[in-house]
Amino acid sequence: MSDDSRPSPTTPRAEARTAVVIPAAGRGVRLGPGAPKALRALNGTPMLIHAVRAMAASRAVSLVVVVAPPDGAAEVKSLLDAHALPERTDFLIVPGGAERQDSVKLGLDALPPDYDIVLVHDAARPLVPVDTVDAVIEAVRDGAPAVVPALPLADTVKEVEPASAAGDPEPVVATPERARLRAVQTPQGFDRATLVRAHETVTGHVTDDAGMVEQLGLTVVVVPGHEEAFKVTRPLDLVLAEAVLARRRLNDGF
Ligand code: CTP
Ligand code: MG
Repeated sequence: MSDDSRPSPTTPRAEARTAVVIPAAGRGVRLGPGAPKALRALNGTPMLIHAVRAMAASRAVSLVVVVAPPDGAAEVKSLLDAHALPERTDFLIVPGGAERQDSVKLGLDALPPDYDIVLVHDAARPLVPVDTVDAVIEAVRDGAPAVVPALPLADTVKEVEPASAAGDPEPVVATPERARLRAVQTPQGFDRATLVRAHETVTGHVTDDAGMVEQLGLTVVVVPGHEEAFKVTRPLDLVLAEAVLARRRLNDGF
């Protein structure tokens, strides 16, 4: 194992600057027909804007890189121009790729040199609380090369032998012990050099960035996730997201 996952003595992690890459280039096929998922509205505001605000809410975050739908970069730029962000937060927009991991790579390629900590956050998780974002950054500052927020599972999970024809019953292969399983969310936080190396060397399909760092043989650590960091995936999730926003309005009187 090389040491480039550790902070160098000249750049204490506590002073490292933090950027966030937001992959937002997906179509949202499971959500059904309509605009690309990140541009769909939640209580009148595009999901992407909620996600960008959730990241910019952390005082540690000084740059947000939005990876836009390939034909939607101009629309994303006008949306970001129209919705104020905190003064301390810059943003960049780059067009995305065919798969999520291609989009994340394009976002990483656009990062200016002076950011040593990188978070990757799904636009599809618009409601993650700032405390979760800060907990992830804190754990990277404390020296972890990769950090994921995660929650215990409510459902028991079974591994099956996938059926060859849709609808056929599938035999169960195994039942992992639920208490040892976690459902992983974003933002995932990384030492930048480690994440860049993972994206340059790991091939094959992966569903999260931390999984690529695991394949480098490095340890990924878990911090507590939050139920409001759920991913908007299917139509019912839109109902839940709008209910969470309504509850926040009541609680904040805003
Ligand atoms: N994403 C991306 N580029 C892609 C595919 C996905 O930037 N080529 C982003 C999505 O915009 C989303 C995040 O990755 O913010 C998580 O992906 P997912 O929830 O699967 O979103 P979609 O791929 O858009 O949805 P679906 O799989 O239902 O089409
Ligand atoms: Mg997808």
